[in-house]
Parts: sequence; C-alpha cells; structure tokens
Amino acid sequence: MLDERLSNSRAAVPLRFLPSDQQSGFGDMLGVFERWLAFHDGADHTRSRRHANRSYAPFRDERVEPLIQRVVDNLLDDIESDEFDLMSDFAFPLSAIVIADLLGVPSEAHADLTRWTDDIAHLFGSTRVSTEHVYRTQRSTRELVRFLSAPESARRSEQRGGLMHQMRHTESHGYRFDEEEVIAQSALLLFAGTASIRYLIGNSVHALDQRPPYERQLLLEENTAATAVEELLRYCNPVQFIGRVAGADFTHLCRDGTQARIREGQPLLLYIGSANRDAEKFSRADELVLTRPGPNEHLTFGAGRHLCFGDPLVRSTTRIGLASLYRRMPDLRVFRQDLDWNNNLGFHGFQSLRVTARV
Ligand code: HEM
Repeated sequence: MLDERLSNSRAAVPLRFLPSDQQSGFGDMLGVFERWLAFHDGADHTRSRRHANRSYAPFRDERVEPLIQRVVDNLLDDIESDEFDLMSDFAFPLSAIVIADLLGVPSEAHADLTRWTDDIAHLFGSTRVSTEHVYRTQRSTRELVRFLSAPESARRSEQRGGLMHQMRHTESHGYRFDEEEVIAQSALLLFAGTASIRYLIGNSVHALDQRPPYERQLLLEENTAATAVEELLRYCNPVQFIGRVAGADFTHLCRDGTQARIREGQPLLLYIGSANRDAEKFSRADELVLTRPGPNEHLTFGAGRHLCFGDPLVRSTTRIGLASLYRRMPDLRVFRQDLDWNNNLGFHGFQSLRVTARV
C-alpha cells in the first residue's frame, strides 16, 4: 500500500477478465470510474484528495451521530416480526440512507442505491466477472449517474447543505470539481460507503452470534464500545483485499524467502484480510477478542496516501447500529443453517442473514 511502484489507476482492470472482443463499449461507465479520486495517482490524487478533504468535513460534524441514531431507530421501529432478514431490513437500508442523507440526495431511493452500488462492488470485488455482469453494472452506473444528476438531487442537496452541494461550491487552492467530477465523486462515496458498511454490520452480527451473549454488552457500555468496534473492524472486515496495478517490473521478496517476479501492468491483490490475521502482529489473531488491548493496528482502512476517508462514519454507524440492535433485541440469534455469503471478497458479506429476536 505504501509502495510507490504500485498504481491505483485500475478503473478498467475488471474488463481484462472479458474476452478481448467484448472489452469495448463501456466508455461512459469507465469515464465515471476514472474520475474517482480513489483511482488517481501522484499529483492528481493529492490535488483531488486535498480538495475533497475540505468538502467532506461533514463526516466529522456533530450532526452525524444524531442522524445515524434516527435512521437506526426508524429501521428498528419498522421491524414487525421476531424473525427477519438483518441485511434487507437493517444493514442495507442503514448504510444507503445515511450516506444519501449526508450527500443530501433523496434517501427514499435506498433500495435502488443498494442495487446499483452492489453491482459496482461485484465488478471490483469479485474474482469472477462475466460479460453479462459488466453490462448490468454499466446500466446501474448510468442509473446512478442519472439519479445524482437529476434536478431533484441538486435541489435537495442545496436545501440541506449536503455534501454534494458542498462539493459543487467548495474551492481550495484555486481548484473546484467540475460538474462531472461532483457526480463521479458522489457516486464514489455512495459506492465506497454503502458497499462496505452494510457487510461489516452483517459480518459483525454473525461473529458475535458465535461468542457468549454477555460480550454484546461491551458494545452498549461507553467505556468499552470503541475497543469492541475496533476489534470488529479487524476481524469482520468486508474489504478482504484492495487492488493495485504494477507500475514497473520488479521482484518482490516474500516472507518465506521466495521471490515473485512482477511485470509492469500486472494487476495485484493486496490481502488486508490476511494482514489483519497476522499472528506476528496480533495475539490470538484468529479470535474475536472484543477487549483486545490497543492500539489495534488493523489495516481495514488501508494505509498511506489512499487511506479511507470514511472511517469516522464507519465507526459511528457500527457502534450506534449494533448497540441499538442489541439494546432492543438482547437475545438476537442468527439462523446458521443456510448462510447466504455473497461471491465477493472485495466486499465480503451476506446477501441475506436470517435472524430471530426470540430465544
Ligand atoms: C467498513 C467500511 C469501510 C472500509 C472497510 C473501507 C476501506 C477502505 C480502504 C481499504 C481504502 C483504501 C483503498 C486503497 O488503498 O486503494 C478506502 C478508501 C476510500 N474509502 Fe473507505 N472503507 C469503508 C467505508 C467508507 C465510507 C463510509 C466512505 C465514505 C462515505 C469511504 C470512502 C472512501 C474513499 C473516498 C476512499 C478513497 C480514498 C483515496 O483513494 O484517497 N469508505 N476505504
């Protein structure tokens, strides 16, 4: 992650999985992804990131936690049955509504936002991409762009002082995002935020189900919650890997002493999931230890110049979401017979997770 020979210019990498005669015709979709600051290197990245840092200040605003709590409470109020699907009834809408609200765009569209961002997540996170899926992601990206470009999204974002409006009007060091960049960076935030938080919540509930029930209490207590959330981030991280492209030929010396020859242009997967379970770094690395003494130096949010922007939002959403869930449903259990994992290691989690609030 810190190696400058590795490039993040990888918007088009998933298309390499397709037969060469089927790789064209996706220019409009790639145009959106290529504008994402996440896929920029060097000075381009520094400029966009510095600029975005100013526009994204609301992630740290004191109004964010009350917003998350309101969304969580509304979703839990709407759950009428003791048995429900944690993903479709809670985790999916929670992440989509919170991030849409922060951008200031209509959060009633949360089901569409979940579908669109899931298609994009599959494109970048799955190691099996079909031509059909690329077409579906192209349609989803078009719909997402149409949604973000609609006058209603602009009007609401302005009215609420949302992030999208702020991105339009923030100027730093004489630089502004143009309209296409505003739409693309908004799409990036929706994608990067919703596709990861939703699975983190599902993975956490699944992992906690396998621990003694009293451990949930640690999430409810002010002095233990932050440490517990940090351990959930390490152990239940949905982002199992991040991608890079080799910017030059080089030889990599592996831990076991072998050498890997890397060729310029070769796509690489950096396994955060493996680093987070490194036994040389963490004692009882394969165990969820909610009281793990800090600092918990997991790599869940990456490292270096591309370090995640959304970490305060993730920590707050996870803590508030799980504490409220277990406060209302202290006996919550997972039906573990038919676990419905998605086929996606970049954004790993459950498509559905059946649970019951009754003992
Ligand atoms: C469980 C939740 C999340 C996880 C595990 C996660 C993980 C990561 C990781 C590993 C990176 C670095 C990628 C790289 O090095 O190429 C990253 C970057 C990024 N994340 Fe997150 N993320 C999460 C949530 C969010 C949220 C909620 C947002 C915003 C709403 C967000 C926005 C971003 C952005 C914009 C970048 C690109 C930063 C850059 O390239 O400079 N993420 N994230």
